[in-house]
Amino acid sequence: MKTHKIALIPGDGIGADVTGAAMTVLDAAADGFGFSLETESFPWSCDWYLQHGRMMPEDGIDILRGFDAILLGAVGWPATVPDSVSLHGLLLPIRKAFDQYANIRPHRLLPGVEGPLKSAGFDILCIRENTEGEYSGAGGRVHQGRDNEVAIETAIFTRQGVERIIRFGFDQARARRKHLTSVTKSNAQKHSMVFWDEITRMVAADYPDVTVSHMHIDAMAAKMVMAPQDLDVIVASNLFGDILTDLGAAIQGGLGFAASANICPDRSNPSMFEPVHGSAPDIAGRDIANPIATIWSGAMMLDHLGEGAAAAAVLRAVETTCAQGIGLRPGSHSTGQITQAILSALKV
Ligand code: IPM
Ligand code: MN
Repeated sequence: MKTHKIALIPGDGIGADVTGAAMTVLDAAADGFGFSLETESFPWSCDWYLQHGRMMPEDGIDILRGFDAILLGAVGWPATVPDSVSLHGLLLPIRKAFDQYANIRPHRLLPGVEGPLKSAGFDILCIRENTEGEYSGAGGRVHQGRDNEVAIETAIFTRQGVERIIRFGFDQARARRKHLTSVTKSNAQKHSMVFWDEITRMVAADYPDVTVSHMHIDAMAAKMVMAPQDLDVIVASNLFGDILTDLGAAIQGGLGFAASANICPDRSNPSMFEPVHGSAPDIAGRDIANPIATIWSGAMMLDHLGEGAAAAAVLRAVETTCAQGIGLRPGSHSTGQITQAILSALKV
């Protein structure tokens, strides 16, 4: 039987609830489709930090390297560890070390879910650059604590980094409705964003079958509210993609429905799958977190592992469950109830 080795990192807060729910569904799908998931769980989290002084062991990346994929819940427990420490100690280093440069986030309404917009017919795939840009971590502070203190946060855009994410976006667009919108702010940021626009034009020449639009981030924020049905694939830098995908989550009914995949496209390293939402300390441990975002992310993981039929079955089971009115509003059903409904709807 084919076996895929999965590293599970529940992380903090509701991360444990939603990854537990996802593994129940993914294991059932694996059983039904004749493969198995050999899962090892790692307790790396803010709690682990309090015991060990770091978010993961020194050789954490090497440990993860031995797996076919990583499923992550959420990282962050600001009451004990500042977010800037926990995220830069676990989530962000994994994305960078494994060159998971393509962050893929689908935004569409599942059946029965009523988003806040009048328009229901949108189907957007946001491709966010995931390893450099505004989140490169380059910078520093000098004269700390003094009146003349300076803080510098440098956005890094490399030709290689920009070109590969734009090519990745064009490949996605080619497999969908053949429309790509590149999001920048080149009217104000005259170096990096003009560079991005130039590279988009250069790459576009290789994809004459794909229509290209260029939009500024501010106009795109409005467009995603006013006319999301006109969008297909969006490609954006790390920060812009981060912001637009929370907006995308909002128009698809909330963060409980927003899935994401951090992909290393050449497969030289494991890719990582996680919901867009965070650890939600306010509802942690209450069995009310919506597991759908993580289950959908898990379906993306199965697809990445070559188990397309199982991935499609999981997504169909999620759709059936939503169509039955289960899990649509925060608190209407427990995490366990939603998970059970998805399991019952799973057709193998
Ligand atoms: C996300 C999150 C992270 C990000 C944070 C927690 C660092 O907001 O996955 O969208 O910005 O990448
Ligand atoms: Mn985010």
